[in-house]
Amino acid sequence: MSDVAESELSVFPEGFQFPEGFLIGASTSAHQTEGGNTNSDWWALETLEPSPLAEPSGDACDSYNRWDQDMDLAAAAGLNSYRFSVEWARVEPEDGEFSGPAIEHYRLMVAGAKQRGLKPVLTLHHFTNPLWFAQRGGWLAPDSSEKFARYAAALAPVIDEGAVAVVTINEPNMGAIMHRVMSGAASLGTGLGGLLPLPDPAVSAKLIEAHHVVAAQLRSRHNGLPVGWSVANQSVQWVAGGQEQAENYREAIEDIFVRAAVGDDFIGVQAYTRTVIGPNGKIDQGGRTTITGWEFYPQALADSIRHVAQLLPNVPQLVTENGIATADDSERIEYTSQALAGLGEAMAEGAAVRGYLHWSLLDNYEWGHWGPTFGLISVDRKTFQRTAKPSLAWLGRLARTTTS
Ligand code: BGC
Repeated sequence: MSDVAESELSVFPEGFQFPEGFLIGASTSAHQTEGGNTNSDWWALETLEPSPLAEPSGDACDSYNRWDQDMDLAAAAGLNSYRFSVEWARVEPEDGEFSGPAIEHYRLMVAGAKQRGLKPVLTLHHFTNPLWFAQRGGWLAPDSSEKFARYAAALAPVIDEGAVAVVTINEPNMGAIMHRVMSGAASLGTGLGGLLPLPDPAVSAKLIEAHHVVAAQLRSRHNGLPVGWSVANQSVQWVAGGQEQAENYREAIEDIFVRAAVGDDFIGVQAYTRTVIGPNGKIDQGGRTTITGWEFYPQALADSIRHVAQLLPNVPQLVTENGIATADDSERIEYTSQALAGLGEAMAEGAAVRGYLHWSLLDNYEWGHWGPTFGLISVDRKTFQRTAKPSLAWLGRLARTTTS
């Protein structure tokens, strides 16, 4: 691609180098890519008749069988890291019944990433729950932390194969909101003035407890393993008359989860866009938007990094997600260039950032529909053939030239 070098130069000055060991890679999650995740609460929701979701995940990207192709493409482009998740519903399809083959599958994935020069970042929980866990109350069940800890213990062979970092729970703040939505207590459209419905504080508290229990367990069992969790960050802004509401909203939806990471080895930052709040709730900026309807706002990443650095000055950050749903791949490069430039500025001001993992490696199942394409690689929905987009070569080249 002829404009790769040109776009790249516009991100960082020539010769720019990230600190040694900086990760540049991409992220996926199991349910969104593997296909056939039949024992999970999401699968149950997708296959309800009628389902509140527009489309099911079905065979997804068939990555349960084709993960080696995904990793081959990522590594060939030059990425040095890959974040993926383990599907709890596969590892423990029934309460207390563990699947040896599923554990072996994920161990092989960690080994396969390492063989290709991709440092594996492992997520233990990415939105989906085993159906049995959901049916007994999900995170609200009194012993939910113990169940999660038992599952995490069963993953020892996977982690010990060489995960470079473990994210216990992906976006607990969105998970807490989903809990309300799944239990019928809220719909995604009922938030104040277009804001997201606030998480149920009881669910938030149980998620924080589960993270603390499992993080402590992992640290004691896996010497030196960096453990953290990843939070959905937005750039929350306000105009006159909106400050109090904006700060309260950010506190309940984001900041309590960020603060819960105090003492962790890192915090995962995941930022895509911004929310601007006025006296009457969310203010639609009316500008350029992406396929998900979110405002095109790459500065969200730097804003989030700065905000997290203020709340948690002593915890290093790892950008575990950032990206854009667009059918125009040059727009993906444009968005990501600006996001990365902002990341570089925040680092120059002192933020301790250890890596950047783009969302997503693949065009995958976007929680209810297939329309929003976040991928660096497209996937044919019938043949599952993968086609790398120019943005993959672009990000891989950036990784090769700025990291060591
Ligand atoms: C989630 C991903 C999701 C992405 C884009 C994050 O909230 O962790 O699973 O696909 O954002 O919506």
